[in-house]
Amino acid sequence: MQLPVISARGIIKRYGHDEVLRGVDYDIHQGQVKAIIGPSGSGKSTLLRLLALLEHADGGSIHLDGDLVGARAHQNGSSRPAPERILSRQRRPVGMVFQKFNLFPHLTALENVMLAQVVVTKRHKKEAEERAMETLARVGLQNHGSHYPSELSGGQQQRVAIARAVVQQPRALLFDEPTSALDPELVSEVLRVMESLAAEGMTMVIVTHEIAFARKVADEIAFFDAGLILEQSAPLSLFENPQHERTRQFLTHVS
Ligand SMILES: Nc1ncnc2c1ncn2[C@@H]1O[C@H](COP(=O)(O)OP(=O)(O)OP(=O)(O)O)[C@@H](O)[C@H]1O
Ligand SMILES: [Mg+2]
Repeated sequence: MQLPVISARGIIKRYGHDEVLRGVDYDIHQGQVKAIIGPSGSGKSTLLRLLALLEHADGGSIHLDGDLVGARAHQNGSSRPAPERILSRQRRPVGMVFQKFNLFPHLTALENVMLAQVVVTKRHKKEAEERAMETLARVGLQNHGSHYPSELSGGQQQRVAIARAVVQQPRALLFDEPTSALDPELVSEVLRVMESLAAEGMTMVIVTHEIAFARKVADEIAFFDAGLILEQSAPLSLFENPQHERTRQFLTHVS
């Protein structure tokens, strides 16, 4: 069996006295598409932020392609964050797409997609621009490179954000409710792009309320509740035969 791209074990996260992740194990293998569903406040976004090394876990470990990331070696079960200089290198292989796009408003679509390549990957400007153009074309925005975010629809902005993540050739892409901030008529253009990435073999974790979409593209769906993965299985078995009453209740509310 191949090593997972990302492997999280026993992840614990607290905010004050609230334990919002209570010992989560989560693996994602190369080429897998995994969806995460669950009620508001159950810890889905927190898990993604931890996997992307945007925050530090209070317990547990994360391995990326077999290497411990985000923390120094554990002592007595506690872990200290790795220094920022190491974190910024360890973050690079994992891309993240947020609900609110997070594009730079003062940069064009093309510049948004070029920026990390020039600053982080140190690619030459010419090469970065060519790759950015190609990647914008992949998300159907070949004619919008010179537009500023304010001149793009929400669906177009989100596709720019996806292009910005994809152009870095990530080992895995994490999506946190990528269509929740969009007008309903713009949702499908974003889901189409994500579906084509999945078909091309991108390794993806998608937190979503788009149950039909999760059912269609995901190899596995995890149901989160109160800081734990209550169950995880192939879509058909999760929907047709949930193992927990809590999952069943949630599914009747959302479908
Ligand atoms: N920075 C923070 N400081 C304090 N509490 C936080 C912080 N971020 C998240 N929380 C709390 O942690 C819990 C889990 O939040 P999280 O955003 O991960 O939930 P979620 O499953 O993504 O919910 P939603 O479906 O609403 O996006 C919530 O109770 C939330 O209030
Ligand atoms: Mg969330």
